[in-house]
Formats: sequence, C-alpha cells, structure tokens
Amino acid sequence: MNKVIVLYDSGFGNTKLIAEAIVDGMGDSASLLHVSEFTKEHLNNLTALIAGSPINGFMPTEKMQAALKSIPAGALKGVKAASFDTRMHIWIHGDAAKKISKRLAAAGAEIIADPALFRVTGKEGPLAEGEIERAKEWGRTIVKSL
Ligand SMILES: Cc1cc2nc3c(=O)[nH]c(=O)nc-3n(C[C@H](O)[C@H](O)[C@H](O)COP(=O)(O)O)c2cc1C
Repeated sequence: MNKVIVLYDSGFGNTKLIAEAIVDGMGDSASLLHVSEFTKEHLNNLTALIAGSPINGFMPTEKMQAALKSIPAGALKGVKAASFDTRMHIWIHGDAAKKISKRLAAAGAEIIADPALFRVTGKEGPLAEGEIERAKEWGRTIVKSL
C-alpha cells in the first residue's frame, strides 16, 4: 500500500482545511501531518510527500522552511512529491508552493504535479468559494499519478 503524507503549516486554519480536503480526496493511503511533528523518520518507506503552507511574506512559513531544510540531500530519491499554498487574492502575492516544490526536487523528489494555489478572501480567511472542493479534486488527481 502507498504511504502518502500531506505535510502542512497553517496560521489561521485555512491551509489546514485545504490539507484535510486533499487527504480526503486522496483516500486511505494519505495521512495529515503538521509541520511541527515532522521528523526524518516520516520519510521511511514513503511513496509521496505533498507539502503546503500559507504564503507569509512572499514565501512559505518559517516552520515549513525549517522542515524542508531538515530533509537531507537525496533523502527523497524515489519519492513522488507536489506542493500547494494558500494566498490572498492580491496581484503581488509572492509564492510558497513553487519554492516548496523546488526544495523537494533538490532533496531528490520527483515532482508529479504543478504547484496548486488556493485563495483566501482575507488574511485570516475564509477560503474563497469552491476551494475545498478544488483541493479534494486535486488530491484525487494526485493519487492517480502514484
Ligand atoms: C505575516 C503574513 C504575511 C503574509 N504575506 C502574504 C504574501 O506575501 N502574499 C499573499 O498572497 N498572502 C500573504 N499573507 C496572507 C496569507 O497567505 C493568509 O493569511 C493565509 O493564506 C491564510 O492561511 P492560514 O489560515 O493557513 O494561515 C500573509 C499573511 C501573514 C499573516
């Protein structure tokens, strides 16, 4: 059976809702992991790592950046990966998901999907309409490429 981890950070809970919806869409093989609980042991026998964070100041949160940095070079060889972020609908928004994917690829992962971007309607949310369903659907699509 595939082992899939959906690793996330969230300040106000919106990215958590997206991460939960992705797990939901992925089905039985996927489990949710908050970034503060992440250890290298989670990488054992891993099929896929899906990681997501809100954009905070044009980049992933500090906790997410630290978790990604803690992954040793080459440790994601043979692991499939994808990333997502949540962001406000403003035209200068920076990026988190793309940076996460870059880091996962640098650790040896095979990136299996374009970074997925989900919108919040204000700093603390709520999520824009339809984003939960879109996240579920994204999860369903990802699981097909495993
Ligand atoms: C300190 C801080 C910096 C932020 N910087 C950005 C940014 O650069 N671009 C953007 O689109 N949204 C930015 N936001 C809005 C966040 O993306 C939004 O709060 C987040 O998506 C909500 O998700 P969460 O509930 O999981 O924290 C920022 C929010 C905070 C608190």
